[in-house]
Amino acid sequence: MNILAIESSCDETAVAILDNQKRILSNVVVSQIDIFKNYGGVIPEVAARSHLEAILPALDHAFSDANFLTKSGQNDWDKISAIAVTHTPGLLGSLLIGTLTARTLAILHQKPLYPIHHLKSHIYSSWLNVDKNLPTFPLIALVISGGHTQIIRMTSHTSFKIIGTTLDDAVGECFDKIAKILGLPYPGGPAISAAALGKLPDQALSIPGNRYKYLFPHPKITDLDFSFSGLKTAVLRTVQKEVGVGLDFPSKDLKTLLSPNQIADFAASFEQTAVDILIEKLSLALKKYPDTSSIVIAGGVSGNNLLRKTAQERLTSIPLYFPAKKFSGDNAAMVAMATFYEIKADIKPSDPYSLNILPRSLIS
Ligand code: KG4
Ligand code: ZN
Repeated sequence: MNILAIESSCDETAVAILDNQKRILSNVVVSQIDIFKNYGGVIPEVAARSHLEAILPALDHAFSDANFLTKSGQNDWDKISAIAVTHTPGLLGSLLIGTLTARTLAILHQKPLYPIHHLKSHIYSSWLNVDKNLPTFPLIALVISGGHTQIIRMTSHTSFKIIGTTLDDAVGECFDKIAKILGLPYPGGPAISAAALGKLPDQALSIPGNRYKYLFPHPKITDLDFSFSGLKTAVLRTVQKEVGVGLDFPSKDLKTLLSPNQIADFAASFEQTAVDILIEKLSLALKKYPDTSSIVIAGGVSGNNLLRKTAQERLTSIPLYFPAKKFSGDNAAMVAMATFYEIKADIKPSDPYSLNILPRSLIS
């Protein structure tokens, strides 16, 4: 049983092949970061067009990395037993390219087709750590990405309950927006972390920012939900005050008034606050669900070093799982791993003639 998986929900075109021992035979990720780094975010139409250009070469690349080629050098479809694809949630045009490709391939090569929820696949990125112990149930998963911030409780491979969600912005989106205010490139997460350590683009400065220079408020939400729009506004107002301009000053020009030291301090103080908020919610979730036996932290923001370190320091009572760094962002290996467990749980494949994409949907 070799699973071929496709992921194209946002700005990465990814194809992976997983074998029946859960070994990753290929993991191709074509990133569009270079296209979007100076725009401050993803432009959906451009992303869809880039997926269209990248998807077939990525597919060929995956077959060749897995050594799944016929004698005449064609992709050997006899080696593939199932096709999986992220069909929800994500950018409409981006999802369409991956899903229509998967549907077509499933029809042409007569393979079962498994539609996978993007957040579910992020959770399964921790199952890709094959040389380590795997998470056990019941577990609490914190999924933090550019589009989502959710706490999900799983009692088995097939049971998901959302126990906390953001009421407004996702935490990754907040990193991206603050980066834009500070004049840092997209994606904001890695750029903010680097700036907090004093590493700014085109600057020799390496004085780390002060994580407690600005004390931004935490949202006053008592249950497991999140809110990040207040933090974004608090950072914006503090920057405006610091550089001495009014509320009507264009936020895109604030960066020209900030010194490298100020950028480092803002990046560091914001990153610390965002991480503290996430860890506090996880601690609360553990109190509310005392039978929890492991915590999984996944999604693009789970690549954050400060978050990893802080979680390890503060959540000592329970096994903690992060994906390997190369699997924290979008990839298709995690989609294949989620499918491996769907097949094991006897979940039926979908009709390749009618599978739809859903730009928004809840994990279930
Ligand atoms: O999961 P992902 O790759 O794509 C979505 O499903 O959205 O997550 C992308 C998000 C972006 O907002 C990016 O800024 C953030 O993850 N991110 C990080 C880090 N690496 C990526 N945020 C904080 N620290 C990082 N090291
Ligand atoms: Zn993602």
